[in-house]
Amino acid sequence: MIFWLLGILISSITYANDAADAKYFSIMGLSSPPNDPSNGFQKDQDAIGLGRKLFFDSGMSASKAVSCSTCHFTSGRYIANESIPAGSSRAFRSVMQITGVAYNRFFFWDGRADSLWAQSLGPIQNPDEHNFDRLSAVVHVARKYPDELDRITSTSVKYQQHLNRVNSWMVSKNGSPPTVSINFIFSLIGKSLAAFQTSLPIPPSRWDEVAKAKITGTALNNEQEKIWKGFKVFTGKASCSNCHDGPLFTDFSFHNTAMPTRPELGIEAGRYEVLPQIKGSEFSCYSLYSDASKEECRHLNYVNQTIDENFGSFKTPTLRNVGTKSHFGHASQFSSLQQMIEHYDRAPAGVHGRMLNTRTLSELKPLGLSSEEKEELLEFLKAL
Ligand code: HEC
Ligand code: HEC
Repeated sequence: MIFWLLGILISSITYANDAADAKYFSIMGLSSPPNDPSNGFQKDQDAIGLGRKLFFDSGMSASKAVSCSTCHFTSGRYIANESIPAGSSRAFRSVMQITGVAYNRFFFWDGRADSLWAQSLGPIQNPDEHNFDRLSAVVHVARKYPDELDRITSTSVKYQQHLNRVNSWMVSKNGSPPTVSINFIFSLIGKSLAAFQTSLPIPPSRWDEVAKAKITGTALNNEQEKIWKGFKVFTGKASCSNCHDGPLFTDFSFHNTAMPTRPELGIEAGRYEVLPQIKGSEFSCYSLYSDASKEECRHLNYVNQTIDENFGSFKTPTLRNVGTKSHFGHASQFSSLQQMIEHYDRAPAGVHGRMLNTRTLSELKPLGLSSEEKEELLEFLKAL
């Protein structure tokens, strides 16, 4: 009798724990994206609408053939398209997923942009991406979307004045272009793209179905059982969730995981390399073009600058949709998820420690996973 009751007690505690974990790591546990005080237009419906048009507008590139969607939208989904021939320098940075991107505090693999809107201005001017210049981008948008810009700026006298200055200059072409006003409207392009990306829903994955079944106490089929076992390895023995935490499978932070270097790149300092410029960058939260007060830029005020925590570190990427990728790591160091799992299982020391005269800066420890556990982990990753 006592054992029978104990059995029921243990299984109901396990059920409650499993259901709580399932919720915490699935979209059921996701709250709405945080507010970005530096983007006054984050929730503006007109800005979202313009952002959607710009995301797909190849007119905003030098070749008239490249838009954000070229690399971030494929087969009708907002997932990374890695089939695009890469430019010489971009070849070494793999395309990131934009799923749930608005939850991040820093953007790009090294986190050199401190807001989603500042990030969005990068590819427009990058010679390997849109290869456009700032003035041409502003002129293109002012000509093609005058009504949209009028509506968006109608809520702000400041932005309205800058738009008027840009429009008058475009008509008269008198003197040099009004730099500050051009920059304000350029920032509005980024803010609209950010508003649009923030508005994108996160579609439920096969993993979310498994989590839902666990929450509601529904039986799992064979395939789902395997995914669940992989989740247990992910959060248990393999401790992947130390960094790939929560419904988006990222802590939004930076870590050294001893990823192999590429000969062309030498030793990359990663996060550490960009830290000195981050606060003073042209479109940072502190800048003239930010809509936040300095106190509101909390992520910049308290940015972690220590060398041992940042040297050779890169951003923990979301693992949502990771099964659709064919290159892994910031510099496409691996070409399969199996290779990624083997890397974590081995936990090499990496190259960065030696430079600071310490054994390793990597946070990884060898895992000792069995081949069955590796397989379950793989099934889990593919279901995200
Ligand atoms: C030619 C391909 C290409 C194009 C075009 C492109 N991107 Fe990207 N995107 C990338 C690559 C590569 C990275 C990672 C770059 C790095 O870290 O240096 C990236 C990173 C990002 C990130 C950062 C995600 C994160 O978690 O930090 C966002 C957001 C993004 N791109 C949005 C955009 C937007 C918006 C546009 C259009 C204005 C755009 N991209 C155009 C390839 C592209
Ligand atoms: C110490 C923190 C940490 C732990 C623990 C960790 N990761 Fe990562 N993960 C990262 C970081 C940081 C990157 C990016 C590394 C880079 O490119 O330099 C990454 C990248 C990845 C990628 C590549 C994603 C892409 O889009 O390219 C996969 C897949 C991945 N991790 C899976 C796992 C799995 C599975 C585990 C557990 C076995 C795990 N990670 C444990 C931090 C971590």
